[in-house]
Amino acid sequence: MARQQARFVCQQCGAVHAKWTGRCDGCGAWNSLIEEFPREELPGGRLKGGPDRRGGRALGFVGLTGPSILPPRRKTGIVELDRVCGGGLVPGSAILVGGDPGIGKSTLLLQAAAAIAPGNEPSLGQTAIAAYITGEEAIDQVRLRAERLGVAASPLLLAAASNVRDIIASLDREDAPALVVVDSIQTMYLDTLDSAPGTVSQVRTAAQELIRVAKRRGFVLVLVGHVTKEGVIAGPRVLEHMVDTVLYFEGERGHQFRILRAVKNRFGATDEIGVFEMSDRGLVEVPNPSSLFLAGRQAAIGADEAAPGAGRVSGSAVFAGIEGTRPVLVEVQALVAPAVLGTPRRAVVGWDGTRLAMITAVLDTRCGLSVGANDIYLNVAGGLRIVEPAADLAVAAALVSALTDTPVPDAVVFGEIALSGDVRPVGHTEARLKEAAKLGFAEAWIPSGRGKRRGTAAAAGFEIAAIGHLSELVERLAPRHALRGQSLGQRRIGAAS
Ligand code: TYD
Ligand code: MG
Repeated sequence: MARQQARFVCQQCGAVHAKWTGRCDGCGAWNSLIEEFPREELPGGRLKGGPDRRGGRALGFVGLTGPSILPPRRKTGIVELDRVCGGGLVPGSAILVGGDPGIGKSTLLLQAAAAIAPGNEPSLGQTAIAAYITGEEAIDQVRLRAERLGVAASPLLLAAASNVRDIIASLDREDAPALVVVDSIQTMYLDTLDSAPGTVSQVRTAAQELIRVAKRRGFVLVLVGHVTKEGVIAGPRVLEHMVDTVLYFEGERGHQFRILRAVKNRFGATDEIGVFEMSDRGLVEVPNPSSLFLAGRQAAIGADEAAPGAGRVSGSAVFAGIEGTRPVLVEVQALVAPAVLGTPRRAVVGWDGTRLAMITAVLDTRCGLSVGANDIYLNVAGGLRIVEPAADLAVAAALVSALTDTPVPDAVVFGEIALSGDVRPVGHTEARLKEAAKLGFAEAWIPSGRGKRRGTAAAAGFEIAAIGHLSELVERLAPRHALRGQSLGQRRIGAAS
C-alpha cells in the first residue's frame, strides 16, 4: 500500500497544511510547522493503531439523575497537592503537571508516588500501589533521588520506558496500580506513528491511549509536561483539553519556594495554590504561606513592638490576597527614583506592568502626584505572581509611600482602583481580614461601601479604614502631598466646568 502523504502540522495551533510555509495560516505563528505522517490506513478503511470504526453500537442514553457511585478520592499524603486537586486524586482521572525544566516536577511526583497511602484495593499480585515510569532519567538516577528524598523504602514500581505500547501492556490489567506517573509525556511515543516523539501527533496520541487505559482500569494517571520557551505544553495546548486536571508548577529562579497552581480542574476549584519549599531533601509543604511571604517583614513588626516606628521602611505595603480559596498575605515593594534618562524606567516583578501604568496615571491625574515621571521598580516579595485587581490599592499605597518616603503603618491593604480613582469593593473581605488577624495585623485599609460593612462585622477589634477614593489614601498616608493634590484636582474640575 502506498505510504500516506506527509502533512505539515502547526505545533502552536494544530492546523494542518499540505505544504510547508514559514508562517501558519491558522494562528500566524512563525516557523511552527512540522512534518508529520497521518496514521496509516489498513485495507477496509481501518486506521493502523486505531480502533475499528465499522459496526458501532447504539448508545444507551441516560438522564442526569441516577445512581452513580462516586469513587472515594485518594489522598497522596502530600496535603498541598491533595488540596490543589480538590481534596485528593480522583480514580480514573488524568492530571497534567506542567512546568519549566528543573522546577521540581519529577521530585514532587516521586514524593507523591512514594507517599500515596494504601487504599482498599484488591491486592492481586502487584504489591505496590503506585508506578513511576520515567522516559527521561535512568533507573539509577531515580533511585539516587529517592534515596536523597528518603523514600527509597517505599514499595514503588519503577520503570524506564518510552514506548506507549509496552506501558499499556503493563498497565492494562485488573491489578493495575492506583497511581501511575508518566514522566514526561514528550518522551513517550507510539510506534504506529512516523512522527518523532514530542511532536503534536505523538504527544496527543500517546496521551489519548494512556488516558483511555486509565479510565478503563480506574487508576490516576499523572502526566508530566514540559513547558517550552513560549510557555506552552508541547507546543499547542492539545493536552489541556484531554485531561481532567491541569496543574502548573511554577516558581522564580533563585527563590526557594514553588507554587503548584490548578488552572483547570473538573473535580474542584481552579486557581487553588499549593506552596512548597525546595530543600536539600526535596519539596517540603508550606502550610502557612503568608508567614513565609512576610518572613522579612514579621521581624520588622517584632521590632516595632520594641521601639515604635523602628524597622519600617517606606515603599512597602502588605496586600491581603486570595489565591483560589485561600487567603495569602504578600508584601508589595515599590521604589520610586528620579529618572535620569528621558523615558522613565519601569521594572515589575510579580505583577502586571500595564496595570502599574494605569495606577501611576490615576495617581498623577486624580491625586495630583507626579509618580509617572520617575523610574518605578515594583516587586512582589517572595516570587508570588499576583493577578488579582484587588492588589491595586496595595500597589498604590506602596507607590505613594515610596514617593513621599512615608512608611505605611502595619496594615493590610486591598481594593480595586477604577480609572476615576474610585476604590471598588472586592470579594472575600472576611477571609482576607481573618488571615490578617491571624498574622498579627490589627489595621486594614479597605474599600468603603459594601465591603466595609461586611468586614467590620467580621473582624471585631480590627481597625478599619474605609477608602472610597484614591485621594483618601494619599491623604491618609501623606497629608502634605494630598493637599497639593486636592487643590490641583479642584483646579482641574474648575477648568472643566
Ligand atoms: P526536578 O524534579 O528534576 O525538575 P523537573 O522534573 O521539573 O525538571 O528538580 C530538579 C531540581 O531540584 C534540581 O535543580 C535540584 C533540585 N533539588 C533540590 O534542591 N533538592 C532535592 O532534594 C532534589 C531531589 C532536587
Ligand atoms: Mg524531570
